Amino acid sequence: MAITGGIFLRVSKALILLSIPALCVGGDAISPQIPSVESFVPSNGVFELPPIVHIVVDNEYASHGSPSLLDFAKVFQTDLEEAIPYVTNTTISLSPLDPDPTSDIPTIYLTINSSAQFTLYNGQPTDEGYQFEVTPDTYRITALAPIGVWWGTRTFLQQAAVDLAQGAKTVSFPAGQGVDSPGWEVRGFMLDAGRHWFEASFLGDLCIYASFFKLNELHLHASDNLWNPAFLYGEGNEGWEKLYAAFRFQPPAGSALDGLVPRKNESWTKQEFLDLQQTCASHGVTIIPEVDTPGHSLVITQWKPELMESGQPDHLNLSYPETIPTIKSIWDEFLPWFSAAEVSIGADEYDASLANDYISFVNEMSTYIGAQFNKSIRIWGTNEPSTTMSVSENITIQHWDFPGDDIPVQLLSQGYRVINSEQTFLYLDGKTSEDNQFPQQLSEDLLWSGAPGGKGWAPNIFSATDPTNNTTPDAPNLRGAIFALWNDWGNNATTALEIYYQLAKSVALFSEKAWAGSDVRATALTRDQFDTVYPALTAAAPGQNLNRVVKPKYGNVVYEFPGTYSTLSTEITSVGPPYTLSFSVKPDPRSPDTGLLFSGIDSKLHVANLTFEATGQLYALGYVLPTDKYTSVSIRATREYTYAVIDGDETNPRYWYTLMDIWGDYMALGNMSFAAPSHNIGGSGFSGEIRDIKLTLEGKQVAAILS
Ligand SMILES: *[C@@H]1O[C@H](CO)[C@@H](O)[C@H](O)[C@H]1NC(C)=O
Ligand SMILES: *[C@@H]1O[C@H](CO)[C@@H](O)[C@H](O)[C@H]1NC(C)=O
Ligand SMILES: *[C@@H]1O[C@H](CO)[C@@H](O)[C@H](O)[C@H]1NC(C)=O
Ligand SMILES: *[C@@H]1O[C@H](CO)[C@@H](O)[C@H](O)[C@H]1NC(C)=O
Ligand SMILES: *[C@@H]1O[C@H](CO)[C@@H](O)[C@H](O)[C@H]1NC(C)=O
Ligand SMILES: *[C@@H]1O[C@H](CO)[C@@H](O)[C@H](O)[C@H]1NC(C)=O
Ligand SMILES: *[C@@H]1O[C@H](CO)[C@@H](O)[C@H](O)[C@H]1NC(C)=O
Ligand SMILES: *[C@@H]1O[C@H](CO)[C@@H](O)[C@H](O)[C@H]1NC(C)=O
Ligand SMILES: *[C@@H]1O[C@H](CO)[C@@H](O)[C@H](O)[C@H]1NC(C)=O
Ligand SMILES: *[C@@H]1O[C@H](CO)[C@@H](O)[C@H](O)[C@H]1NC(C)=O
Repeated sequence: MAITGGIFLRVSKALILLSIPALCVGGDAISPQIPSVESFVPSNGVFELPPIVHIVVDNEYASHGSPSLLDFAKVFQTDLEEAIPYVTNTTISLSPLDPDPTSDIPTIYLTINSSAQFTLYNGQPTDEGYQFEVTPDTYRITALAPIGVWWGTRTFLQQAAVDLAQGAKTVSFPAGQGVDSPGWEVRGFMLDAGRHWFEASFLGDLCIYASFFKLNELHLHASDNLWNPAFLYGEGNEGWEKLYAAFRFQPPAGSALDGLVPRKNESWTKQEFLDLQQTCASHGVTIIPEVDTPGHSLVITQWKPELMESGQPDHLNLSYPETIPTIKSIWDEFLPWFSAAEVSIGADEYDASLANDYISFVNEMSTYIGAQFNKSIRIWGTNEPSTTMSVSENITIQHWDFPGDDIPVQLLSQGYRVINSEQTFLYLDGKTSEDNQFPQQLSEDLLWSGAPGGKGWAPNIFSATDPTNNTTPDAPNLRGAIFALWNDWGNNATTALEIYYQLAKSVALFSEKAWAGSDVRATALTRDQFDTVYPALTAAAPGQNLNRVVKPKYGNVVYEFPGTYSTLSTEITSVGPPYTLSFSVKPDPRSPDTGLLFSGIDSKLHVANLTFEATGQLYALGYVLPTDKYTSVSIRATREYTYAVIDGDETNPRYWYTLMDIWGDYMALGNMSFAAPSHNIGGSGFSGEIRDIKLTLEGKQVAAILS
């Protein structure tokens, strides 16, 4: 197949677009997708997707790769059945590459061409590109490797989703030839799972969601601690022993590392982690685990206080003889879990005055992890000035700030490979940030037009103001970008789903910029195009239900139980906002404080003080239900808040809040959004009566993301 578009000529570091195939020739265009498809040249006709779909996997390559072409095909099959309601029957067969010319059943072919070539903007080869060739009989996806075919199946599904969202009864793909390939190798998001606990199943769902937008990495920040001077530096009677710190990989029973994970209920067992890693991999997403040392290490010093740097409880003393062996023993235990070729050792925000200790530590870890486990390492950019030593060029540096002389363009020219996580563009914090330094979601204004000259952000843009800090899309050592969501205020600042609400649109927007960049391809999305298709695509992302969308029983009613109950089970495990949950309740005076009014997979509502629970955290409304009469309660939630109206008093909405300790500086009040705890009514010893239970959806559940 001829590659008809998106061919770049490299002229002295500049990219010149030679041929710009329009995505919108005649009536046969493909609609915009996220991220944008590099090129599509329409021809005549359409491929109509029938209710019975045949997927044919080239038998010569079916078992190629890990995941294999066939593995990806099976996930695609499941997604297709979920995403396209009228598809009633799908089959996968293995057969030779050449389509059967006698068959007139529309067929999707998935195949490998081992001589296909795709290149990143820096000219290096990538196996993530793919071609698609659409005729009235066949939709054929061809790539160099299974991962490329996988991204091609996302393009197929996105096209179908947009078609269906526009009201089409059946999906039809315009005939033609498309070519698509990412500009950068690393396109990821980082989640701070050190300061906030997340179930593995939630993280798996995030991978699945992000993969719909062709992101390929989840950087999992898996150890950290809250930062609070009153605890760390001993003001009052707080103490570093009591400050929240966590390490999320659960050591096997009897391990010498047991003391590293005192709260087993907030850690992933090996099997849970392996399953998560597999879920992500089967969707084209690699988990890059991070264990952060020698700063951010309170979880280690709480376990082994002798490793502490005096006066800095969350720093390890690298000159203490047992420190580096202890860090190595942690990696020895957990590196065999990790399938990625790279891991992050964190290594941020350590003492600038201990630069030589720091540099020899990161170099030693690079050599050790390379020699023992054949993996390379990443570190965060850190100000560690030394006149005698330098960080090994084998280490990838993830830039996030401009500390000292840590200037990314200089690092690149010194030969370091760099990933862009610059906080100006790419940082978020759960619920709120100190003095609102970071937005709730990635700033759309900044990403579309915040680079110098009013241009859009891309992985080659590090500064919004100073062009000398930016480089070109084809910079040889620029690997790509990772945006980061931190959880500085810990477990009680947010629910897991609130984190998803912050990530959902950011994932999509970032994916466009990290795949296509800004000002490189004529086919890159405009802001208007993005805004037009995003609602359909975020709602259609298959394989997970982070929106907790449910089908109402009738009208907007999810369920309604007019009778009187003390316990009742339903099949609805959780319902995402916006919803209204109303009921009347008369607790028995003997009902224990542990009694539950409602519970679900994402939240619980305790009878005591009308307290919501999520992530093991309690959020009391502070309303004590009388035990001698019925109280009517109407709970209303959006993605921004949850409040109750008691006994119909609309003038006095009562909000569920969290109180966040902003680095010991000030306390910040924040609203909480809870999914409806719809699964069980009553429980945990609740005694009393609940009646007139009604759960309704308010507006479109998914539409709530779009505000
Ligand atoms: C699905 O399609 C295949 C092949 O067309 C057919 O053999 C099979 O019976 C169908 N299954 C169902 C459940 O319709
Ligand atoms: C495989 O790709 C090469 C390079 O683009 C091309 O020349 C060849 O025709 C392709 N083979 C098939 C079977 O499409
Ligand atoms: C670090 O450990 C060394 C060796 O035990 C010790 O001499 C030094 O005082 C410690 N430094 C700090 C800052 O704790
Ligand atoms: C080491 O890792 C590299 C990169 O992932 C891989 O290409 C190579 O085959 C590995 N070597 C061994 C001995 O496993
Ligand atoms: C970088 O890695 C290569 C291959 O593992 C090794 O030979 C070399 O010594 C390393 N360089 C440094 C500076 O660590
Ligand atoms: C950009 O680089 C210069 C030095 O080359 C530096 O002075 C400036 O502060 C940098 N920061 C930003 C955000 O542009
Ligand atoms: C209910 O709230 C009050 C006041 O906030 C508090 O004193 C009491 O301990 C709470 N009871 C329970 C069971 O949480
Ligand atoms: C884990 O257990 C601890 C101690 O019992 C508790 O404080 C915490 O809330 C629990 N965490 C979760 C997520 O349930
Ligand atoms: C949340 O945790 C912080 C400590 O990080 C604590 O100060 C605050 O009181 C907690 N808020 C609630 C509502 O429990
Ligand atoms: C909670 O949400 C309500 C409704 O949007 C708003 O009026 C209120 O200011 C919010 N409170 C906080 C603490 O953010």
